[in-house]
Amino acid sequence: TGGFTTIDPGYKNTGACESAITFLDGEKGILRYRGYSIEELAEKADFLEVAYLLIFGELPNKAELDKFHADIKKHAVVDDDIKKILDAFPKSAHPMGVLASLTSALTAFNPTSVNVESEEDMYNAIVRILGKFPILVAWTMRKKKGMPLEYGSSSLGYVENILKMMFKHPNEDYVQNPILVNALDKLLILHADHEQNCSTSTVRIVGSSHAGLFASLAAGISALWGPLHGGANQAVLEMLEGIKKDGGDTKKYMGKAKDKEDPFRLMGFGHRVYKNFDPRAKIIKVAADDVLTNLGIEDPILDIAKGLEKEALEDAYFVDRKLYPNVDFYSGIIYRGMDIPTEMFTVMFALGRLPGWIAQWREMRLRKEPIGRPRQLYIGETHRPFKDISKR
Ligand code: SDX
Repeated sequence: TGGFTTIDPGYKNTGACESAITFLDGEKGILRYRGYSIEELAEKADFLEVAYLLIFGELPNKAELDKFHADIKKHAVVDDDIKKILDAFPKSAHPMGVLASLTSALTAFNPTSVNVESEEDMYNAIVRILGKFPILVAWTMRKKKGMPLEYGSSSLGYVENILKMMFKHPNEDYVQNPILVNALDKLLILHADHEQNCSTSTVRIVGSSHAGLFASLAAGISALWGPLHGGANQAVLEMLEGIKKDGGDTKKYMGKAKDKEDPFRLMGFGHRVYKNFDPRAKIIKVAADDVLTNLGIEDPILDIAKGLEKEALEDAYFVDRKLYPNVDFYSGIIYRGMDIPTEMFTVMFALGRLPGWIAQWREMRLRKEPIGRPRQLYIGETHRPFKDISKR
């Protein structure tokens, strides 16, 4: 043994690092980025401002933010070969698999190692990925919809341009609905970081071997894909569609969730850390109502969501286990309202989480953290002699 007695599956009670980026208090439902509350940031800042804050530790002044925007725009182009890679995927390819592959491919087209001693080298890698990633996200969606792979317009803001690249043809005149831009900006801010969640821990541990930033991000995308983590927002809509197809009886599904024989997890409910309401869910719930009201959307799926939410909040089994709607429950509803395909929901989560992954990777490298290498308690066979195949 390695001189220890207990293991901690899923690291539920293990502190992996010290970090100055995000503070959250699961009991009180508090979430702060570099000391600022997400309620204030979601209300008063925009996504790139928050990205700058998470990565560099301070809110940018006007000159810093203008330079950040300009430098990111300079990199808002990808190697043409990326189109060939995208063309190679079948239309049925899951967007998260496409995004992870394209992000790995960017590693091949860009300097793989970042000299962390050089602030300039690190800054250039950061603005490079912040410029290119939205294109990968938008082109992954265009690929899914069979649309041509084109850029947006440099005259637009960061989030507006993402929406344009996802949905519109460049020559199509483009007036973006401010409600949608504001809702997406808020969603991305609320997804930007969440301390040592599964995908961020993955980015840190891959980066701890001194693999490049882009390679570490590609690993984080794969971890986020899982339905217990970022994939939950897609799983929520698939669950709601299943309930609708099955007649819309939410009580039946509440019962299934409690059936220990055949455990059925209600996607979008519960959280490892928040043992009260997920503070992000509160803000996103309001934004979801705004988007649906403003777009005049009447959607039976969303009525089922509201029914499920109401029942879960009043159900002893759920209340005892502190299983409240989480960020993924409501974000899927907004993405659906914005006509984003369900399979793209987790890609949108990755777009939001990108600055957090970058910030955590940078902090881990600047603090010169050792390579991640946990130990184990061995429970296998004791030593035994080789057995010839004639005797097996
Ligand atoms: C995200 O970590 C992060 O920060 C993640 C995230 C981020 O921003 O990065 O916040 C984003 O991933 C949010 C979570 C999205 N996942 C889902 O919505 C999937 C459904 N949720 C569950 O799988 C679950 O709640 C987890 C994975 C989120 C948390 O699981 P835990 O903390 O390991 O809880 P557990 O599995 O120990 O369950 C405790 C009890 C169990 O019942 P008992 O054995 O005590 O009788 O609660 C039950 C579980 O069966 N339970 C659920 C449930 N979640 C837990 N029962 C029904 N439905 C659920 N969703």
